[in-house]
Amino acid sequence: MEKLAIEGGKPVRETLLPYGHQWVDEADIETVVQVLRSAWLTTGPKITEFEKTFAKFVGARYAIAVSNGTAALHAAMYAIGIKPGDEVIVPAMTFAATANCVVFQGGSPVFVDVDAETLLIDPDQVKVKITPRTRAVIAVDYTGQPCDYDVLREIASQHGLTLVADACHALGATYKGRPVGSLADLNVFSFHPVKHITTGEGGMITTDNSDFAEQMRIFRNHGITTDYRQREKQESWFYEMVDLGYNYRITDIQCALGLSQLQKLSSWVKRRQEIAQKYNAAFAEFPAVRSLGVRADVSHAYHLYVVRFDLSQLRATRAEIFTALRAEGIGVNVHYIPVHLHPFYRKQFGTGPGLCPVAEAAYEEIITLPLFPRMSDNDVEDVITAVRKVIRAYLK
Ligand SMILES: Cc1ncc(COP(=O)(O)O)c(C=O)c1O
Repeated sequence: MEKLAIEGGKPVRETLLPYGHQWVDEADIETVVQVLRSAWLTTGPKITEFEKTFAKFVGARYAIAVSNGTAALHAAMYAIGIKPGDEVIVPAMTFAATANCVVFQGGSPVFVDVDAETLLIDPDQVKVKITPRTRAVIAVDYTGQPCDYDVLREIASQHGLTLVADACHALGATYKGRPVGSLADLNVFSFHPVKHITTGEGGMITTDNSDFAEQMRIFRNHGITTDYRQREKQESWFYEMVDLGYNYRITDIQCALGLSQLQKLSSWVKRRQEIAQKYNAAFAEFPAVRSLGVRADVSHAYHLYVVRFDLSQLRATRAEIFTALRAEGIGVNVHYIPVHLHPFYRKQFGTGPGLCPVAEAAYEEIITLPLFPRMSDNDVEDVITAVRKVIRAYLK
């Protein structure tokens, strides 16, 4: 049998292939340089242009651009009016920011378990966790697959809750033919470099609700009702701070990059789907590796490609598989440690093991494989070869 790289064998790749990577081309650079030569570096026209183009792309009435996805989540919690004593339902399998935004506002995140096949929020578990204090549900389109929004919307409207989509993984995905970004009352995106499009750092909230939109525009600018550009136009110095806000503004430099990136999104999502299909086909021959379930009513945007290893068929732990794949030059990762297991939540909210058993069991078995549009077919083959090699070496 071929030796694994960790046993002194030759690795599949000499240099590490990351799990995600941005794609910035000359057109992107040119458009950023134009802004650098212009009068407006921030709070200028590129922000409005990016917001309008983005809103149209996802089929929402309003889009509000902010400094990152976490700020976008915070702004969404502010718009809903989350305050101490309020509860917000969040899935256990997500990035910490999904729950942190509730805490920023003094509210309590209530963790719910996920579906065993898709690892998306389980609507039946949502129903179980609703109390008179529940104000909102944040659904996370984990890995890029939209949650079951029709079912979630029905639960939300029955109980008078606001439905928020943490769609940071799912730009470019659709649900029953409808674009992500138009499916919940508030929809949140991130433009971190590993995401579908990047602005370096950046975030966006889309909504059809004009009150929410107005409040979030104020919130991102210190709680001040007018911005510098408006005041200059009106030849006025006067402004008022009407509530406590933050500096969550994004720059024109970033928005110019976002506009240029957005033009390429559809072809990039297609490439992500193509790579995912190659992985699905390749791993079908190994019962010890399972891809996550994908519902028939979605078009998956594949921010991440997560596989589950059936450890009962292998002589290795997930940590050993992780180390072996890294040694083969494959930059694997793990998304995510269930949020309720983090020390902060254990300490502050008394959470811990046993609260969300499906997410906890999944966490022991998952690994994220590299997936980004700029990967060549050879890169994809390297990942498949490395997974095959590691599985064969560890099969019982
Ligand atoms: C599901 C999810 N929510 C929120 C965020 C936060 O986005 P940002 O890193 O832009 O603050 C991320 C980013 O990794 C994410 O994956």
